[in-house]
Amino acid sequence: MEGMYIVQVTMPQFQAPGTKRARLTEQHETGVGLEALDTPCLVLDLDRLDTNIRRMAELAAAAAVRLRPHAKTHKLVEVARRQLAAGCDGLTVAKLGEAELLAEHGVDDLLVAYPVWGERKWERLCRLAEAAEVRVAADSFEVFAGISAAAASRGLSIPVRIEVDTGFARCGVQSTAEALALAQRLSSLDGARLVGLISFAGQTYAAGREGAGAAAAADAAWLVEVAGELRAAGFEVPEISVGSTPSAPHLGKLAGITEFRPGTYVFSDRDQVALGWGTLEDCALTVLATIVSRPTAARAVIDAGTKTLSSDRAITAEGYGAMRAQPSWRLASLSEEHGVLELPAGEGPIGTRVEIVPNHACGALNMHDWVAVVQHGEVVDWWRVEGRGLVR
Ligand SMILES: Cc1ncc(COP(=O)(O)O)c(C=O)c1O
Repeated sequence: MEGMYIVQVTMPQFQAPGTKRARLTEQHETGVGLEALDTPCLVLDLDRLDTNIRRMAELAAAAAVRLRPHAKTHKLVEVARRQLAAGCDGLTVAKLGEAELLAEHGVDDLLVAYPVWGERKWERLCRLAEAAEVRVAADSFEVFAGISAAAASRGLSIPVRIEVDTGFARCGVQSTAEALALAQRLSSLDGARLVGLISFAGQTYAAGREGAGAAAAADAAWLVEVAGELRAAGFEVPEISVGSTPSAPHLGKLAGITEFRPGTYVFSDRDQVALGWGTLEDCALTVLATIVSRPTAARAVIDAGTKTLSSDRAITAEGYGAMRAQPSWRLASLSEEHGVLELPAGEGPIGTRVEIVPNHACGALNMHDWVAVVQHGEVVDWWRVEGRGLVR
């Protein structure tokens, strides 16, 4: 019947101390408007999500590069499905647990862009490699040798990429000479075979909107140059992979790369808007919150703090998120469960609801077990954040 929806509510069962407490079931309503949702609540707008997914797929197709988005942003199987359906060639993850989750749901082409270290992980990696095509990126012989030994003992050969530090100062070999030496040592391994190079251009964030294009171009040129030296020394380097959402608007100018790995674009957030990926209107992931206290004329307190939004500061803006309908209000500070808003006297009485575009969508998503999925302002589904907590 039109307008009907199912409300699943399990009331708390209060029991005597020491008795095992009944697990509470969340209230997951569909067919209702945003105003019906209890707060704080993470909300994902389906049309905006699909627009971001399509936009990136079109950019990659126009640049003739393979697209392998980073799933750490969303940790959601359904979003992974939508990315692949839109033409992505595979997915990137940071953690084996994320890779296992996606493989369990049928994703068969994965890059673990993280140094996989330790016997237990190498064993898991091998089991994964028996079920899906899995590449691993790392920057040391120690990691590759460990992977190789585990793989070779099972008759496997795992494709690996050398990570190059092109200026972000995180992981990565520090010079072409180091890349050459590592490639040389890798060629002695039976269970790991070199298939390419990878970098992460995190420096595009610090470069800002004006500098992101030059930073992205320098990152790609660096990696292409290292690949050229490796090829000249006789190594095959078919895969040259770069990534980061701020590089995306400049993708067409990154000559020589074969693969692009953006992550945050899928939702976008306040940082990405500042760096050139769409507008605040295009951001698909928001947090609904309510003003619960109005202690002074200029201060209101909302029911969302760091445990809802994360503590991520904005790269170029002040405050902890943008108020979609009240752009002049400033989310000035957060404690765990409180957010302090600065706003004009007389505005925002207790009970006022706000929709916040987070500074960093990946951090905000990671705070929640469930996300309300909305379309045209109506809740159409609830997705569990399956990858949350899979940090090993
Ligand atoms: C190795 C790697 N690749 C790709 C990405 C995606 O970058 P972004 O979220 O800026 O799009 C990240 C982000 O942390 C990363 O660490």
